[in-house]
Amino acid sequence: MKLLVTGGAGFIGSHFIKYMLKNHKNYKIVNLDLLTYAGNLETLKDIENDENYSFMQGDIADEKLINDLFEAERFDIVINFAAESHVDRSLTNPGLFLKTNVLGTQILLDAARRHKISRYHQVSTDEVYGDLPLDKLDLFFSESTPLNPSSPYAASKAAADMLVSAYYRTYQMPVTISRCSNNYGSYQFPEKFIPLTIIHALSNRPIPIYGNGLNVRDWLYVEDHCSAIDRILHRGKPGEVYNVGGHNEKSNIELAMFILNELGKEESLLSYRQDRLGHDLRYAIDSCKIQKNVGWMPRCPFECGLRKTIKWYVENETWWKNVLLRDDPNR
Ligand SMILES: NC(=O)c1ccc[n+]([C@@H]2O[C@H](COP(=O)([O-])OP(=O)(O)OC[C@H]3O[C@@H](n4cnc5c(N)ncnc54)[C@H](O)[C@@H]3O)[C@@H](O)[C@H]2O)c1
Repeated sequence: MKLLVTGGAGFIGSHFIKYMLKNHKNYKIVNLDLLTYAGNLETLKDIENDENYSFMQGDIADEKLINDLFEAERFDIVINFAAESHVDRSLTNPGLFLKTNVLGTQILLDAARRHKISRYHQVSTDEVYGDLPLDKLDLFFSESTPLNPSSPYAASKAAADMLVSAYYRTYQMPVTISRCSNNYGSYQFPEKFIPLTIIHALSNRPIPIYGNGLNVRDWLYVEDHCSAIDRILHRGKPGEVYNVGGHNEKSNIELAMFILNELGKEESLLSYRQDRLGHDLRYAIDSCKIQKNVGWMPRCPFECGLRKTIKWYVENETWWKNVLLRDDPNR
């Protein structure tokens, strides 16, 4: 079985490649990644010589490159992680998000269709559903919740999901989509909330909190997301969407306080900022369908996963310092 994983030098894609190499010894994986600011080959050091793994630098929106790659490699399965993934960056440069997240997806879909691959999997996000009110805790996103994205990032992911579904309906392509809640774990770029909070706390720098900090996110340990995608590839039904979540709803302030307590730091480090434009209030995922139909369950309890993550950032200062320097050499 030969897999194309796009965006495999990023946070979740790199975990997924390691997970698949460990759990499927007979799979060959090609990792195609543009190595934007979020992609990092340091993250893949421990597998770079694995005979079942190879890396290629390239853009999913480069049609010729994609066509040549599919012609040369004859993939069985495509898993598309490649994306511009940070909401704040989408507020200042929406065009880049459309190019990578929408056009890139269409180019991959066309190549996958031409080569009659047996499965195309799109890694999507719960952000395509928009948000839920803070005071109705019995409301959750299900797979039939209408798409109602708030940010250019979420809109680009929703557009890509619609394309993927249209390729199923129009061409009967064997596609699946997963919509996952917020992930956390090692090797996450330090612009995202959990690593940013840990790193700022470690360096005694102010920790930015948008608005009043009461916005709620549903958190999932990254390896649980990887196992969900693995299950969907093997047991999921073509044409279906699967929500993936951990039922770990936490407000930003709760999460920041947990991290401060773990690191023995003062609450005075919290620094309240003007709210993010269009900031979603609450995300909460109903993942009954994947549990019932595909047999997936999250394994990592939230506090245990978060402690492991904090420990990893404490012990891997060189990784995150290099990442930050690469992003901004004047730092
Ligand atoms: N992080 C989360 O909490 C979360 C939750 C749900 C879904 N997702 C989705 O999972 C996927 C991966 O997210 P992540 O957090 O690992 O993101 P990330 O930003 O850490 O990684 C994205 C990777 O894609 C690569 N990339 C960007 N543009 C590319 C292009 N044009 N061609 C090829 N490669 C390109 C980058 O170099 C990087 O390695 C995304 O599609 C995201 O929407 C993320």
